[in-house]
Amino acid sequence: MRILVTGGVGYIGSHTVLQLLRADHEILVFDNYSNSSPEAMRRIKHLSQREPEMIIGDIQDSVALSNAFRYFRPDAVIHFAGLKSVGESSIVPLRYYAENIGGTVEILRAMDDVQCRRIVFSSSATVYGVARYLPFDEGHPRNPESPYGRTKYFVEELIKDWTVAGLDRSAVLLRYFNPVGADASAILGEDPNGPPNNLMPYITQVAVGRLACLSIFGDNYETRDGTGERDYIHVEDLASAHLAALEFGACHVGCEAINIGTGHGVTVLEMIEAFEAASGRKIRFKIVGRRDGDVARSFASVEKAYKKLGWKARYGIYEMCRSAWNWQLRNPDGYRQL
Ligand code: NAD
Ligand code: UFG
Repeated sequence: MRILVTGGVGYIGSHTVLQLLRADHEILVFDNYSNSSPEAMRRIKHLSQREPEMIIGDIQDSVALSNAFRYFRPDAVIHFAGLKSVGESSIVPLRYYAENIGGTVEILRAMDDVQCRRIVFSSSATVYGVARYLPFDEGHPRNPESPYGRTKYFVEELIKDWTVAGLDRSAVLLRYFNPVGADASAILGEDPNGPPNNLMPYITQVAVGRLACLSIFGDNYETRDGTGERDYIHVEDLASAHLAALEFGACHVGCEAINIGTGHGVTVLEMIEAFEAASGRKIRFKIVGRRDGDVARSFASVEKAYKKLGWKARYGIYEMCRSAWNWQLRNPDGYRQL
């Protein structure tokens, strides 16, 4: 299959592109490197022993996009590109709306232009907001609490309208829970800019000595040990869900939203314990106040993913910690060194 991957050099995109190349698909990556590094692209090539095509461009640039689509004529699109920081989205909401929503409109236009009718989109569990019940199933009401989450909600609606407006269009909206971990080679991984906002990269940077101490945001939630509970998903499992979604999209029309998680919640203290076991390092932490916007518990119902895609997660929390640690140990400064 010919697949155009927006944001294919980023954290989730790079792991997915590697699996797509290994499965013999033809790939064009479209990325502006705003949150990724050419070094990641070099490593994808090294690991896959293939030369995917790459265009450096912005999804808001309709001319660059349209040229890329006319040149490559993809059978399907995987759309990762966009801004993803919950906190930043409250400070610069218009940037988030323009890039995430406006950028997606441009992608759908460019698809129409070359009669490309299949898309897999990176949505997020954040669309659900505060749980009315758990696990979150795909029918749970959506009530996102940040501008970032609302861009995901609106893009879901916009893609759904696009599928309704034309015959034989297919869209899979993958609602990721908490992606963590790295490729087994320890050559690809997560490389956040500046101090990480997310738990796993913070833990690995404490373990490697780049940061002094983890702050745990609250220990008085209604969970087993009082710390926040999340459904962490290994990035290799998440990548394989995209391959399953592409296959599904090849023989279905319409729009499906599908959760991608393990179905199990892990608390912050449980994560630290698992990480210490996987790495042999002690993680220094202190308890601080709750972080604005955090919910107590979030985990997925994963039945639909299995029923529709035949996909389920293979890796548990130990493998997630182990791969994240191996990546950090081998690349203490991420892609900024070799
Ligand atoms: P990432 O920032 O590592 O990757 C995004 C990639 O898109 C980067 O390579 C970046 O350079 C590129 N990009 C950004 N804006 C662009 C633009 N305007 N034009 C072209 N390229 C652009 O993020 P990620 O963690 O790999 O996430 C991928 C997608 O998954 C995002 O849409 C994100 O919102 C979604 N998601 C991520 C998480 C998570 O925790 N990582 C959870 C749920 C959903
Ligand atoms: N946490 C800490 N200390 C930290 C970082 C996080 O205690 O330094 C805690 C949080 O309070 C939360 C848990 O660890 O209880 C997980 O936090 P993350 O920031 O790693 O993940 P979130 O669940 O807050 O959000 C992530 C992504 C969102 C995405 C959401 C659902 O950042 O973009 O998962 O997929 F929308």
